[in-house]
Amino acid sequence: MLNRRQIPFFDYPALFAEIEQEVMTTVRDVFARGAYIMQKDVLDFETELAAYLGVKHAIGVADGTMGLLLPLLTLELRSGDEVIVPSHTFVASAAAIHHAGGTPVLADCGPDHLIDAASVAKAIGPRTRGIMPVQLNGRTANMDPLLELAQKHKLFIVEDSCQALGSRFKGRFAGTFGVAGSISFYPSKTLGCFGDGGAVITNDDQTAEAVRIIRDHGRGPDGNVWRWGFNSRLDNVQGAILRIKLRRYDSYIAHRRGLAALYDQRLRHLEQLTLPPAPTEDGEHFDIFQNYEIEATRRDALRAHLEERGVRTIIQWGGKTIHQFPRLGFNVSLPYTERMTERFMMLPMNTALKNDDIHYICDCIEEFYAS
Ligand SMILES: Cc1ncc(COP(=O)(O)O)c(C=O)c1O
Repeated sequence: MLNRRQIPFFDYPALFAEIEQEVMTTVRDVFARGAYIMQKDVLDFETELAAYLGVKHAIGVADGTMGLLLPLLTLELRSGDEVIVPSHTFVASAAAIHHAGGTPVLADCGPDHLIDAASVAKAIGPRTRGIMPVQLNGRTANMDPLLELAQKHKLFIVEDSCQALGSRFKGRFAGTFGVAGSISFYPSKTLGCFGDGGAVITNDDQTAEAVRIIRDHGRGPDGNVWRWGFNSRLDNVQGAILRIKLRRYDSYIAHRRGLAALYDQRLRHLEQLTLPPAPTEDGEHFDIFQNYEIEATRRDALRAHLEERGVRTIIQWGGKTIHQFPRLGFNVSLPYTERMTERFMMLPMNTALKNDDIHYICDCIEEFYAS
């Protein structure tokens, strides 16, 4: 029996402690200036985020959900217009399509847990207007077949890259493949703020202008109201905090990729597990490991074993993907997703973890499957 340790899934206090002094100095400075709404800090953060991603525009918004809704509103969906989105995502992806006036149509995922292009192709019909790939767990889908489908059927792409800031496919950043992408700064995200926050990224000037207007009550640069809008601004103080974290962001990603490589090295031999592709498995994907999501035989017993050993794990979305919430009224069969939901779970993955934590977690998993 291994010596029991405590490994929380998230460790917010530890993550705060790492940058406490700088954050407190910054917050005091922001408050002393009375700089709360749409001030220099949030605008500087937008400029720095756009530069980091090499995009023309990054626009701070209230959260990642609004980061999806606002660009979708610019596309003026009509009732009955369909947008294809994977079922294995947070309900917010489909909710954004619904609130923009469209109908979400759910697609299956593949073994990488990302939207499956063959399932998308099957779902395309006369009412399809767009595709929303979800770059889940910090990995960008193979975008080639999706871009081909979009071009062939004249569909827009709005990416849910809420979990994938800095992730790349063939050198191109998640969120930059279509009209716009959304990033979430929810505290558990790779670039988390201290509350809610999000950003829209786009290379399209018109989309950027419209999103800037809609997020601020529909007001244009001249102060007049140009269209109906919302209050969906990123708080200035969150922008100031995000600037501190963005400066360290590459080291956060490197840390996560190191932990993922260690998980892979330690667990690869267990045939009871399906692991995500290793960080250097192919040259086309650069995965930032927002989550380390695996599939496991006897998943619930494994989780109970880990819990007993002090290791907290999580099942994404409470174990149900969107079409498995009966009250939302979807009637679709998605074989890979359904099999996966019996088996999927996430192992601890955050920058407060050290290599010996990962070794302990892997020892506990080996112990379970040896019994
Ligand atoms: C895949 C996905 N889409 C959308 C969202 C919504 O982001 P937010 O919570 O910032 O609104 C999240 C995160 O919570 C997410 O993980």
